[in-house]
Amino acid sequence: MSTEVRKGEPIMYDTFERNINYLRISVTDKCNLRCIYCMPKEGVELAPHDDILRLEEIEKIVRSAALVGIKKVRLTGGEPLVRKGIIELVDMINNVPQIDDIALTTNGLLLPDMAGGLKKAGLKRVNISLDTLSPGKFAKITRGGQLSKAWLGLETALETGFDPVKTNTVVIRGFNDDEIDDFIALTCKMPVHVRFIELMPIGESDAWAGDSYVSTAELVEYVSGKHEIIPEKEVRGSGPARYYRVPGAPGTIGFISPISSHFCSECNRLRLTAEGCLRPCLHSPAEIDLRTPLRNGASEPELADIIRTAVNSKPEKHDMQQSGWRGNRRVMNQIGG
Ligand code: GTP
Ligand code: 5AD
Ligand code: SF4
Repeated sequence: MSTEVRKGEPIMYDTFERNINYLRISVTDKCNLRCIYCMPKEGVELAPHDDILRLEEIEKIVRSAALVGIKKVRLTGGEPLVRKGIIELVDMINNVPQIDDIALTTNGLLLPDMAGGLKKAGLKRVNISLDTLSPGKFAKITRGGQLSKAWLGLETALETGFDPVKTNTVVIRGFNDDEIDDFIALTCKMPVHVRFIELMPIGESDAWAGDSYVSTAELVEYVSGKHEIIPEKEVRGSGPARYYRVPGAPGTIGFISPISSHFCSECNRLRLTAEGCLRPCLHSPAEIDLRTPLRNGASEPELADIIRTAVNSKPEKHDMQQSGWRGNRRVMNQIGG
């Protein structure tokens, strides 16, 4: 691992020479939906209020991380828009000079009311979860959510000028694998970047993900048999999706393949849980407590040192495709996807 300074800006490399410049921050473990692959129906275990980082604490961590080369921040949850003060937090992060990109992953339900404020505060882009275009199936997969609300969120995101606007579609065999053409049609009508995600066996989906999993290879074969698609390089982002476009379409189709071709060698990220633990890898239970030193008065350079040490412990790759994988103590709403 090393940190070098180029043109006055720090750049951080881990032990596998990956440039770590992207911090994903879970701002809450709460959510206003209960997606079947993510959260249990009842009895959700939530962290005690005092354990959750306050806005000023998150800001201090971002400032510290910026000292060692973090340039991009994504806010996730649970559902980040249910966190009180989220617009203020975007503004606080936007005032950290080294941070050049702030993005949000949301279910979209609260965007109609909040998109304007978020944009003004400095949010650049949003990714919206949208697993189905059928109102009945949406209610089923989210356990009671209304598609019309998420859809209004998507429309509002476009009208507000977030760019790019992406969607996340977890492909589940027997549930939404018959809607692939509908999602592709959406990219031909709207400037939306639809990403098909391989289902991961985490938390709620652990027991059934194996049977319901659809690989990117199977999807690409299906899609390229029915549609002309060309590789696309222009979609802005920091994540692992590979993009294609139907010629002339305003939107694109992306594939995120965490199981079949894990993108670990290109991984650029570090995660911060809502309780203030750094998680070098989504699929490894290893966590580094930042909250205790923070609350004990550590300075930004001291926190930056801890962040560097955490990056140093980032594993080379995960082995989630092997059966019997049980790497995670936390579930998705606690880590933030
Ligand atoms: P951008 O490209 O910057 O827009 O970000 P992104 O696509 O990484 O963000 P988003 O939160 O929308 O992530 C989409 C999905 O990709 C997540 O929900 C996960 O399913 C998957 N994903 C993101 N990061 C990782 C990762 O580090 N490991 C694995 N296995 N999956 C990830
Ligand atoms: N497998 C794949 N993606 C998942 N997400 C949540 N749980 C899973 C899982 N088990 C994705 C959702 C959401 C993002 C934050 O995480 O698509 O958009
Ligand atoms: Fe990076 Fe871990 Fe995700 Fe692999 S599984 S891409 S190492 S965070």
